Amino acid sequence: MSPAEVKLSPTIAIGTRAAELASQGIDVISLSAGEPDFPTPPDACEAGIAAIRAGFTKYTPNNGTLELRKAIAAKLKNDNGLEYGPDEILVSNGAKQAFFNALWALVSPGDEVLIPQPYWVSYPDMVNLIGAVPKFICTPKANGFRLTLDALEAACTPKSRVLILNSPCNPTGVVYSQKEFDRFAFVLAQRKIWALSDEIYEKIVYDSNGSSSIARSPRMMEQTIVVNGFSKAYAMTGWRLGYAAGPKEVIQKASAIQSHVTTNACSVSQKAGVGALRGDQKPMAEMAREFKARRDFLVEALRKVPKLAFPVPQGAFYLWVDVSAYLGGRVKTSIELCQYLLEKHNVALVPGEAFGSPGYVRLAYAIQQARLEEGVKRFIAGLSGL
Ligand SMILES: Cc1ncc(COP(=O)(O)O)c(C=O)c1O
Repeated sequence: MSPAEVKLSPTIAIGTRAAELASQGIDVISLSAGEPDFPTPPDACEAGIAAIRAGFTKYTPNNGTLELRKAIAAKLKNDNGLEYGPDEILVSNGAKQAFFNALWALVSPGDEVLIPQPYWVSYPDMVNLIGAVPKFICTPKANGFRLTLDALEAACTPKSRVLILNSPCNPTGVVYSQKEFDRFAFVLAQRKIWALSDEIYEKIVYDSNGSSSIARSPRMMEQTIVVNGFSKAYAMTGWRLGYAAGPKEVIQKASAIQSHVTTNACSVSQKAGVGALRGDQKPMAEMAREFKARRDFLVEALRKVPKLAFPVPQGAFYLWVDVSAYLGGRVKTSIELCQYLLEKHNVALVPGEAFGSPGYVRLAYAIQQARLEEGVKRFIAGLSGL
């Protein structure tokens, strides 16, 4: 893919149109944004403010401050049972950049990158930009959108270099157990295929403790890059802070790539990141509880609509809804459905096409309960108007 072919991320495009309508005075309810509607916790904010006051406003080491990398290493050990040294961690401007740097460090043009589908919008574009080849593995509805061992094995070829994993998953809400990861690991380890494990929604899980990671599976520590960050766990989307952890040679290469693109992550944000990791974790647990209450509300409300089908999300804050029963008449595709819902019912959702799966829409429940209730009303009213 040439840079000229890259399009704006579809989730950002929907958000932009919703903001345009809102600027015209229209009350739009956004069920499209992948951003927690909670404040950044006080410990992170105070650490950021203190950093500015202390003049900590210059370049930092390219791969992140030692203080933050040590704090991340402690987090990975305590929460995930993963032992990394500070030189096996790269701090970037968001998990997105950490992911891109790591991918670039791992693959060469022509290599295949295995991507379970539906996928997070940016994965295929990142792969294409690097000149590698995305190879999609369908995760069928009948299997709750979970990757199966058979499908994984069937997709592997001698050119396969990386498998992208995202658990909890955006957009399906699937969370893999350690046992499932162990089975995937067997296939990957045999074939020397890397796992690039995007664990950004790790803290937002409902029915498990969320600490499973393919990096913990046998033989995978030396064949996995873990990507995580502060945007979702600590409601720090605007601070742009994320990280990658893995074997030193890959992390050094990813760090070299970053050194030519953005140098380092924002110095103030890095201090805030240390504040977040070392500070009081209660606000974050509270946030996860609130997301669970909203999930339960949403599941209950939409179960009453007989023509809709969806898996109950086990993590993240998205509902992945099969709307195919509503297509074919006034609206033909889920893109048209989302346009209709936005323009006529002023509720913003993301069409499944953005995630490689026409016939679906993604609802984000990262908004206040009262707004969520109104958004659901509009969604249902829109559907019944078809
Ligand atoms: C699956 C997934 N990975 C990564 C990111 C990017 O996170 P960050 O804000 O840290 O760049 C997102 C954001 O929506 C996401 O959904």
